[in-house]
Amino acid sequence: MSPPPRKIIIDTDPGIDDAMAILYALAAPELEVVGLTTVFGNAHVELCTTNAFHILDVAGRSDIPVAHGAGRPLAMPYRGPAAFVHGENGLADIAFHDARRAPHELDAAHFIIEQVLAAPGEITLVPIGPLTNIALAMLLRPDLPQHLAGMVIMGGNAFCPGNASPAAEANIINDPEAADLVFGADCPIVMCGLDVTERTVMTGAQIDEIARIDTPRARLAAQILPHYREFHRASHGLDGIHVHDSTCVSYMIAPQHYASVLRPIRVDCGHHVGRGKTWPSLSDQAHGGEWKNRPPVTILTEVDSAAVVDLELNRLASV
Ligand code: BDR
Ligand code: CA
Repeated sequence: MSPPPRKIIIDTDPGIDDAMAILYALAAPELEVVGLTTVFGNAHVELCTTNAFHILDVAGRSDIPVAHGAGRPLAMPYRGPAAFVHGENGLADIAFHDARRAPHELDAAHFIIEQVLAAPGEITLVPIGPLTNIALAMLLRPDLPQHLAGMVIMGGNAFCPGNASPAAEANIINDPEAADLVFGADCPIVMCGLDVTERTVMTGAQIDEIARIDTPRARLAAQILPHYREFHRASHGLDGIHVHDSTCVSYMIAPQHYASVLRPIRVDCGHHVGRGKTWPSLSDQAHGGEWKNRPPVTILTEVDSAAVVDLELNRLASV
């Protein structure tokens, strides 16, 4: 008999690759999505909440609650939408029916707290946007990490350059103070950073293949991926896309396709060129200085790209 599905809350700023990750998680029998929480990032949070509803509607999962979250980082103004990557509306500027409805009565941070305390030890948080909501929940309930199964985070760059600046990855530079707090949480944390996500490539041919699948989820993917593909062509000379947010789902259902190291992480919260850089300690032992008393984080360092992209495409085609 297969084990019961693992409960997850996806904290998200949809976002084209967020949409792919959500559709993928909803197609995974290994996972039970108990809610989506939204955060500013790829677009303003109001749009991110509308997009979350739209993605759930397409997947036929309007029963899943959406809790509206933070509209700005903890300690700085919002840096603004990434329209050149995700479109003005966060979802490639496609037109869709009005998916707006009332979000959950609790805001994202309180929703996370309520759900986690109602099922102690069972819920894994899957943040795939800036870490503001998670930090706010931890500030409200410092014991929250003790009640989590863990966190699988898309964000950061341990041993490679950033993508939003030479130093930093986009989700982390959008709220470094929140990220430093969250990476210090005392619970199992997996960092799915650019070290693996920029080496996980869905090719142009595979994107063309999605356009031939006749299901509502694949049709949404086929509508939004060309915008993301064009960004990768223009910025990286790549015919294909880096697979960022879906990496959290792939890791949760097929961890055998990844290698990792275990190191505590600090986030550069200075206001200079390194702001938002995720710094692992030098070794997995005897952490001192800024890393003293910080719990170790599982940092993904290697990926079998072909295997995880195949897995995602198979799951997308299966529903
Ligand atoms: C991350 O930044 C966002 O633009 C993507 O949705 C992803 O979460 C990649 O750096
Ligand atoms: Ca995202």
